[in-house]
Amino acid sequence: MQYQEILDAVHATVSPLIGCGRVADYIPELAAVDPRRFGLALATTDGAVYGVGDWQTPLSIQSVSKVFSLAVALSGNNEAIWRRVGREPSGSPFNALQRLENDRGVPRNPFVNAGALVVVDHLLTLTGDPTRVVLELLRTEGGNPTIDVDQRMAKSEAENRHRNAALAHLLASYGALTHPVDVVLDQYTALCAIAMSCRDLARTAGFLARQGLRADGSRLLSRSNAKRLNATMLTCGTYDSAGEFAYRVGLPAKSGVGGGILAVVPNRCTLAVWAPGLDESGNSCAGRAALDAFTTLTGWSVF
Ligand code: DON
Repeated sequence: MQYQEILDAVHATVSPLIGCGRVADYIPELAAVDPRRFGLALATTDGAVYGVGDWQTPLSIQSVSKVFSLAVALSGNNEAIWRRVGREPSGSPFNALQRLENDRGVPRNPFVNAGALVVVDHLLTLTGDPTRVVLELLRTEGGNPTIDVDQRMAKSEAENRHRNAALAHLLASYGALTHPVDVVLDQYTALCAIAMSCRDLARTAGFLARQGLRADGSRLLSRSNAKRLNATMLTCGTYDSAGEFAYRVGLPAKSGVGGGILAVVPNRCTLAVWAPGLDESGNSCAGRAALDAFTTLTGWSVF
């Protein structure tokens, strides 16, 4: 089967499920998104890209941005971030305060909100401006200089960030942040509010399928760090249902509450899917079903 035929077949398989789940409603900008949107894109390791449905419409990437923040933190063979954050699945909701209290300010992994806040703090030290550096990476790898923060989304997120502020203050109380809480929160909020299409998202993440190599062949991550980032996505990338996700899909993946999921088939391709309705864990309902159908149809899982 050709790639386009595969995507068309996946689309047909999941079409009865499009619209399933509940759209995130903690801010009006996300609540207003049409639940029947569905896009799926596939980018091969050599840069060809295919898509179906709303694959060229920008979505709010939300926590999918945590993959790119971690990639920048690990670039240049830098592993210091692992002294500040763990890499175990949390088994708790992504914004749980209790888990961070029990773990005495060392977040379980870089993909729960507390962990991502620590990664942002780390990137402030390494780069001075994490949002600028992540946007540069996305624009270059995606081949789209217009990828940017959705400022309305960022403003709305900032006005409703009480729980993330609580997490950041709890981290600060343990001495786990080196920059002011508000500076870290502003960067975190902007990164979550980046808008880009499935097409650009799939292309941008190609380095994860190319063992750390960027589109131009230069190295972003060492082979080991690319493997480790994929492993962390597999075990921690889909909130507290990462086990179920691995069971059904069998690929490294990272989801966001905007309904996007990024998935990696190492040495072959990357996939980005968007369907705004979420399941109880916060993963895209039809998005997960599409990735499930994809690996069932092709046999391309890591297992
Ligand atoms: O931090 C938040 O609440 C959102 N801006 C992003 C959350 C999300 O996508 C899930 N996080 N792991």
